[in-house]
Amino acid sequence: MTMFSGINGFEFASRDEIENTQLARMKWSLRHAYDNVPFYRQAFDDRGVHPDDLHSLADLSKFPFTVKKDLRDNYPFGLFAVPREKLSRIHASSGTTGKPTVVGYTAQDIDVWAEVVARCIRVAGGHAGDLVHVAFGYGLFTGGLGAHYGAERCGCTVVPASGGATEAQIQLIQDFKPRIIMVTPSYMLSLADSFERKGIDPRSTSLEIGMHGAEPWTNEMRKEIEQRFDMTAVDFYGLSEVMGPGVGSEFAETQDGLTIWEDLFYPEVIDPETGEVLPDGEEGELVFTSLCKEAFPIVRYRTRDLTRLLPGSMSKMRRIARIYGRSDDMMIIRGVNVFPTQIEEIICREPRLTPHYFCEIRRPKAMDELTVVAEAKVDFSDDDSRLHLAAELKKHIKNLCGVTTKVDIREPGGIPRSVGKAKRVFDYRNLK
Ligand code: DLL
Repeated sequence: MTMFSGINGFEFASRDEIENTQLARMKWSLRHAYDNVPFYRQAFDDRGVHPDDLHSLADLSKFPFTVKKDLRDNYPFGLFAVPREKLSRIHASSGTTGKPTVVGYTAQDIDVWAEVVARCIRVAGGHAGDLVHVAFGYGLFTGGLGAHYGAERCGCTVVPASGGATEAQIQLIQDFKPRIIMVTPSYMLSLADSFERKGIDPRSTSLEIGMHGAEPWTNEMRKEIEQRFDMTAVDFYGLSEVMGPGVGSEFAETQDGLTIWEDLFYPEVIDPETGEVLPDGEEGELVFTSLCKEAFPIVRYRTRDLTRLLPGSMSKMRRIARIYGRSDDMMIIRGVNVFPTQIEEIICREPRLTPHYFCEIRRPKAMDELTVVAEAKVDFSDDDSRLHLAAELKKHIKNLCGVTTKVDIREPGGIPRSVGKAKRVFDYRNLK
């Protein structure tokens, strides 16, 4: 336990302290994975590397990557480094195809996780005594319980609302008067709509801080949330394979990207094609190595999240720029790469549209066809206005993304509302 004590407050350690801690913990973590998980022993041996070969942080690049398929191939418990009896908790993510990916936590892992989420809440401006409404889903998804334990650890009063049952959420927010809400950005906007449908101005609620994550979102979406609720919205990041929510968080004062808690999760950014480690500042795929996890150590996990590493600002720990997409969300339309977040920026800047949208890809003949489906606000929802809007949006998308699309502008309420992670891309190309 001594190895991981002192997490509280370490967010303000010096760069030297951070790097010394990282190196000591990385040695431990690689050794722990090698000694206790046959998959890692095999992968290291195949690469001709041994945990003793790590003398500096840069030596990590000699070690093999881990990918989602490795988790699936070892379903359910094959990558655990402790006997099943030592696990306190299991989470899993369903994914869209195949078996879920399963992750496990010892009691100490849960303790570290709670501490790191508490750290996120503090830097987002929360403190002991705050009422926190958690609207991330509870269950196998890490969002709900991860946020919950962190908020309790921070000394807050937690309302475990979970996702869905939107009417009830509206009531709870009005009656209990939370200061903080933890929820996906897309569901936050669904909540705003529900308040308005009831004739309640979301700006009149008690909410002051929103911690949003679990899906890519944009600064335009942030502005929309902040304006509609009159509150501060911060980015909040994580993934189940690395821990769950809490791998990084934004400071409310600066809102300048996610500070990665790199005393616990070591980040690298690589070229997704070659696997080569890129210098800080260059865009690529984010990769994590856990430095402290007992039950489920993870070595060089390829997240598929695309971003770049930035120097620290409020903390000496490095930040990442807002994640603009996942490599598996990238739409390649007639040779042009397009991310849903690019479409989102354009839609959120158009005051006649609601921020709800999705994209559909079809291949009617030989060519791919992208349809952007968006929604008009009430005052602009007659047939003429919607046709006009569609033509304008099509032009903006062509100008900014370089791709010709179809645009379908629906009437108000025509786009299903998110209750958790919004699905932005529907690909019908391989369906018969
Ligand atoms: O979504 C954990 C989480 C819960 C994070 C609540 C934040 C808040 P997974 O289901 O494993 O875990 O999905 C992880 O979601 O690799 C990203 O692609 C995406 N993601 C999570 N947070 C952000 C964010 C949780 N702030 C995957 N910005 C990650 C962009 C995010 N994408």
